[in-house]
Amino acid sequence: MNWSQLRTQLLDWYAQFGRDLPWRHTADPYAILVSEFMLQQTQVVTVIPYYRKWLETLPTLQDCAQATLPEIYKLWEGLGYYRRAEYLHRTCQIIVEHYAGTVPQELAILIQLPGIGRTTAGGILSHAFNLPFPILDGNVQRVLSRFFALTTPPRRNTQQLWQYSEQLLSPEQPGRFNQALMDLGAGVCLPQSPQCDRCPWQNECIGYRTHQGHLLPMSEPSQAIPHRTIGVGVIWNAQKQILIDQRPRTGLLANLWEFPGGKVEPGESIPECIQREIHEELGIEIEVAEHLITVQHRYIHLRVTLVVHHCRYRGGTPELRGCQAYAWVGLDDLPNYPFPKANQKIIRALQTSSPPSWLSKWPGDEYNQNEPCDPQVLW
Ligand code: ADE
Repeated sequence: MNWSQLRTQLLDWYAQFGRDLPWRHTADPYAILVSEFMLQQTQVVTVIPYYRKWLETLPTLQDCAQATLPEIYKLWEGLGYYRRAEYLHRTCQIIVEHYAGTVPQELAILIQLPGIGRTTAGGILSHAFNLPFPILDGNVQRVLSRFFALTTPPRRNTQQLWQYSEQLLSPEQPGRFNQALMDLGAGVCLPQSPQCDRCPWQNECIGYRTHQGHLLPMSEPSQAIPHRTIGVGVIWNAQKQILIDQRPRTGLLANLWEFPGGKVEPGESIPECIQREIHEELGIEIEVAEHLITVQHRYIHLRVTLVVHHCRYRGGTPELRGCQAYAWVGLDDLPNYPFPKANQKIIRALQTSSPPSWLSKWPGDEYNQNEPCDPQVLW
């Protein structure tokens, strides 16, 4: 991973597309403190008028410390999560009493103050003082979970997420970098429909490259139903037939047909998984080509994500190692075989998308010869 290039890409993107927000026009640590409290759990558009009004009414940290609690509540009215108002008030009073009215620049001190956790502290230190402290709000968690394709829900992976946020952080421009990261999460790496074509990190994002970005971050399993990511190959031979295999006579989805593939091992990429699984399962050589579809499916006791790639058959005669039969089948024949539900979506994708471009250019290829052409089923 080229961290320095990633930083430059994000900072360049931010220079062009960063949001123009009122707290980005100030270097006053108190104003930034106010913005960070208000932005906890509240969207930017909601915060802006409250932020402006607050600073018009209480322009200095001393003003805030001296205000009465009813005044504070009145200014916060409608913003929600009212404990924050009380904490902000109390924090300003402590800063006046113990730190001569100056916002402390040490993480250890800041996180002792009411209402300031590690990410708020990171936001204040990086934004107000340009100090290299990372942040990890919900948006940033999503960006990092996708970028590094983390298959563990963020809440169970906070240590690793903090490490990534720290590792990525620009040592020269931590303040701008963190603002940029938040903007990326808020405007591009959206929860439901990430706008990957507008992302400065598109080419490097592992979630994007492995076609899982929109499925991440992984949500908490509802009833601890296990989840598996499965690499699946649609293996084409030169006769434009697809290799399918029949599952064993017993066990999950017994006797049904499927596209070969298997579980992704830790640290393995999807193409590596497909290559390995197909070698183990059928003893043939293939080349993993372009992505076809990513399918999510829930069985009673298992949730699966199938990441499906077109593959090019390279040689070897399929052996029945983990299956009871195999068949080379034309696209039109696929509906004649019983497939599990998750596989139906793959068949539909095959029927509705154009075949891989290399398939029509294949005749003449030296690998043609290895496999009989007729659809065949052996058992
Ligand atoms: N959320 C927390 N801090 C923020 C900031 N400075 N800009 C936008 N959203 C934020």
